[in-house]
Amino acid sequence: PNLTSIVGLPDFDYVARHYMNLSGYSYYRNGAAGEWSYRNNLEAFHRIRLRPRVLVDITNIESSLPTKILGHNFSAPFFISPCARAGYGNAEGEKGLVRGASQGNILYMVSDFSSLSKPEIQAAKTSGQVLFQQLYVASNFTETQRQLDQAAAAGFAAIVLTVDSAADGNRHRAVRFGVGSADSEYTYFTWDYYNQMRNSTRLPIIPKGIMSVEDAVKAVEVGAPAIYLSNHGGRQLDGAPSPLEIALEIYEQAPYVFNRTEVYADGGVRYGADALKLLALGVKAVGLGRPFMYANIYGDKGVKHAIDLMKREVAIDAANLGVGDLKKISPTYIDYRPNYWY
Ligand code: FNR
Repeated sequence: PNLTSIVGLPDFDYVARHYMNLSGYSYYRNGAAGEWSYRNNLEAFHRIRLRPRVLVDITNIESSLPTKILGHNFSAPFFISPCARAGYGNAEGEKGLVRGASQGNILYMVSDFSSLSKPEIQAAKTSGQVLFQQLYVASNFTETQRQLDQAAAAGFAAIVLTVDSAADGNRHRAVRFGVGSADSEYTYFTWDYYNQMRNSTRLPIIPKGIMSVEDAVKAVEVGAPAIYLSNHGGRQLDGAPSPLEIALEIYEQAPYVFNRTEVYADGGVRYGADALKLLALGVKAVGLGRPFMYANIYGDKGVKHAIDLMKREVAIDAANLGVGDLKKISPTYIDYRPNYWY
């Protein structure tokens, strides 16, 4: 389909389903086991309501989208989550994601298991473009140190350390095609290892995959520069909570977390209003994984189109919510009481 006929992010899933080969699509689409967490990531957004205000001055809503992430300026409060193997969707691999992110001026977090090498990815970026490097680390510190040094030397601005993958997810859908797991067997590392890593690089290290208020509090206690709420798009532990549920738990039990560190979140974000619900709770920026991987079938043009669609939806939904300045969105704009009607 022509890009002009793609009117929302879920349309890219439709394209991927029809135009990718089955093993590649299965790898992207897969959730762990019964895929409840995958579905719940999407559905949780529809279980809470917005609380719109009317007759609000929304003249400047679009100009309030730009957001700083760890001090770097971007045009929107959303980013491209780190996803492995862009080569399954596009022969040019991650190039479309790097370039699309540059054209739309949003952050791209590059997966450790990208199809292109780290130097190839750095070569594709535009001057001044900021990229973060996601890492999976093993418990061998010599190897970890090498990964940290390589990321710093390559020019990445921060490390995103994935902490939700102590073992491979059980991904039935993709295992059938031999593309079920990302890589390894078990990884053994702990908060002590995280602290050791932080003392071994000048780059900030953001733990990705925080799923409980306990760990959010722990991360703040050890001084994490930011935390990243995620259940890995439902790909690791089926039964793990959605980012919205995690953010609500933190908001109810330790709301100060949102003021003490930057909080990012991803999983199931497909519409502008999904992003707004997370931002309302205090999340600074939200990530999208699969929508951008599917959009990259079209290369940078598809990625840029996805960014434009999302920006527009965020602005339009904020306007209809009566939020005149995205920086002023707050928990009073959502209602998360149980919905007794179903
Ligand atoms: C991922 N994700 C992921 N996370 C990570 O830390 N390192 C990785 O290499 C990958 N690889 C990966 C591949 C694919 C195909 C997907 C779909 C996801 C998880 C990713 O960063 C993010 O948490 C989820 O994709 C967010 O959920 P949505 O937006 O896909 O629903």
